Amino acid sequence: MAKNLIAFYSRADENYVSGMLKNLTIGNTEVAAGILQQLTGADLFKIEQVQPYAKGYNQCIAQAQEDQKRDARPELKAYPESIDAYDTIYLGFPNYWSTMPMAVFTFLEHFDFSGKPSNLLHT
Ligand SMILES: Cc1cc2nc3c(=O)[nH]c(=O)nc-3n(C[C@H](O)[C@H](O)[C@H](O)COP(=O)(O)O)c2cc1C
Repeated sequence: MAKNLIAFYSRADENYVSGMLKNLTIGNTEVAAGILQQLTGADLFKIEQVQPYAKGYNQCIAQAQEDQKRDARPELKAYPESIDAYDTIYLGFPNYWSTMPMAVFTFLEHFDFSGKPSNLLHT
């Protein structure tokens, strides 16, 4: 049977929902990743920074923008041991200024994805 992986980045805490600031206990991408997990039975992996962005929206924006400007590669808490066994990898991430949070680049550069069919789950 095919073995698939959903690797996703998601930030809970303060965010805009329908034009209003709200405190989310689970981030949007994490919700979407959970639905996809139920549909596919894939393994789930959350990409997490050692130093998470602030819980407050405006401070988070400043930190994430600074990381993007200097093309940072935030250190990650952990990685899946190996991706060799996976047939397909789904990559989930929020839109941060038309690109990905920089921690997702850290994740992608850690592995050799050649030959892996990939699907983007983009919130
Ligand atoms: C640092 C930051 C930058 C963002 N930049 C954009 C953007 O450029 N365009 C946009 O439509 N939404 C932007 N958003 C909103 C998020 O993409 C959106 O709320 C997403 O669903 C959040 O996913 P998450 O809850 O899984 O982290 C940004 C949010 C944050 C925190």
